[in-house]
Amino acid sequence: MIIGVPSERAPGEKRVALSPSSVVAAIKLGFKVNVQAGAGVDAGFSDSEYQEHGAEIIDSPNQIYQGSDVIIKIRPPLHHGPQAEDELSLLQRGKTLISLIGPGQNPDLLETLAQHGITTLAMDAVPRISRAQKLDTLSSMANVAGYRAVVEAANHFGRFFTGQVTAAGKVPPAKVLVIGAGVAGLAAIGAATAMGAVVRAFDTRPEVKEQVESMGAEFLMLDFEEEGSGEGGYAKVMSEAFIAAEMRLFEEQARDVDIIITTALIPGKPAPKLILADTARLMRPGSVVVDLAAEQGGNCELTRPGEVVKEDGLTVIGFTDLPSRMAAQSSQLYGNNVVHLLTELCPEKNGEIEVDMEDEVIRGLTVVHKSKVTWPPPAPRLSAVPAPAQSLPATPPKLEAESKSRSAVGSVLGLVLVIGLILGVGAFAPKSFMGHFTVFVLSVFVGWQVIWNVTPALHTPLMSVTNAISGIIVVGALVQMSSASDVVVVLAAVALFVASINIFGGFWVTQRMLRMFRKDS
Ligand code: NAI
Repeated sequence: MIIGVPSERAPGEKRVALSPSSVVAAIKLGFKVNVQAGAGVDAGFSDSEYQEHGAEIIDSPNQIYQGSDVIIKIRPPLHHGPQAEDELSLLQRGKTLISLIGPGQNPDLLETLAQHGITTLAMDAVPRISRAQKLDTLSSMANVAGYRAVVEAANHFGRFFTGQVTAAGKVPPAKVLVIGAGVAGLAAIGAATAMGAVVRAFDTRPEVKEQVESMGAEFLMLDFEEEGSGEGGYAKVMSEAFIAAEMRLFEEQARDVDIIITTALIPGKPAPKLILADTARLMRPGSVVVDLAAEQGGNCELTRPGEVVKEDGLTVIGFTDLPSRMAAQSSQLYGNNVVHLLTELCPEKNGEIEVDMEDEVIRGLTVVHKSKVTWPPPAPRLSAVPAPAQSLPATPPKLEAESKSRSAVGSVLGLVLVIGLILGVGAFAPKSFMGHFTVFVLSVFVGWQVIWNVTPALHTPLMSVTNAISGIIVVGALVQMSSASDVVVVLAAVALFVASINIFGGFWVTQRMLRMFRKDS
């Protein structure tokens, strides 16, 4: 099959659907790739680069649309306005379109595509399940947008992000508040902390707290009990009382922070208004607000979509094309997502695609199939977040009760054995030995009982405790080293050796674990 990559006609769009490296990957799957002349120029990819990577450059857009079996685009095909911009009329019956579609917002486009008999795969309708993560264009673009939001903020903020102590004076670090810690919010947190700012974040979904903290930011908490997680891992609309409490928190923060980046969204709903005009005006002159929710109405009352508003030293950025402002990076990631989709569609690597509507991921993103609108798809079988604990107990209650009673029987048996052993040895051993022996046997029993009941998640802290115990053994062994008896010295040496293995092994394992979480320098 032939893949066609046309130039984007939407005004201001700089991205291209396949980067040269994605072209190579598509060719490996058996496809032939045609790219419209100049399609990648705004994203920094020249025609000659595409040719070097195996694509054919086609001058005429008509030829791209008509001579290809699969059209891969970024923006939904334009179907209103001047003829010169109409892309839909170029698409022919029986072809396949892979593109962002906005199926929820563009029902009429879906109808028209169905009437034209164009099988349509929407890159923005990828189900949010683990298996589909590599196809998830919304995440790729949100990641770029979050990063770019920080770059835009830095561009309008007249100071350093990082704190400095210089001969000319001390500079405090910039304080950044990120509202909404989804994909874009986390990318913004990562970029802002990397630039040295002090970052705080807030989200209605409590499960993101650890993610925020692992990226070096502080997670702000509200003294308000309300579950913020909705279906499929997304947020839900919060109660008015919660939003009011949240806005009070932002009012406090606005007096203190220099930059606010808002990313709060609820799928299919207008963006919640979280930063009122008066709150934004509390910020110090020179402060910046970047509103990533601008396209959905904005989280800040002062936001004007697509514009930069300046008011009394405050800058409010409402750009709606942040991914396009980093066209090279976005095109690279979008191209990778598309190649992963092509790999799913063409498992035989024979350059033929097959839309398997039985496959949960393919079904989810296919919005027009066999001249019928197939959107919305059935709800995914698996959610992006784990189900709440109470709905799926880790151990069924009966099994839990059984295992508890088994461990109780084990304890009683163990105790009986210990008592039997002490009585047995006591019948023959000297009196002085029995005191030490009883303490030894009981400590083994107590130690076993304690360790046995520790959950696996706590084994690492437990290892530190065993390190402390090994330390005591080492001290005891050193004291016994000067004993007159050779047997005691040998036993002390063996104890010293074994305890040292435990101590140094423990440090070594801890180091290895820490390295796993450390960023490469
Ligand atoms: P989004 O763009 O719809 O929302 C952004 C953030 O705003 C969310 O974290 C949401 O909780 C937050 N928010 C909504 N209302 C708010 C309010 N009133 N105040 C403060 N924050 C508010 O979400 P995004 O970034 O597209 O993804 C959300 C989640 O979906 C991810 O964190 C992840 O758990 C899941 N996901 C799963 C994927 C997969 O498994 N394939 C891929 C991407 C995301």
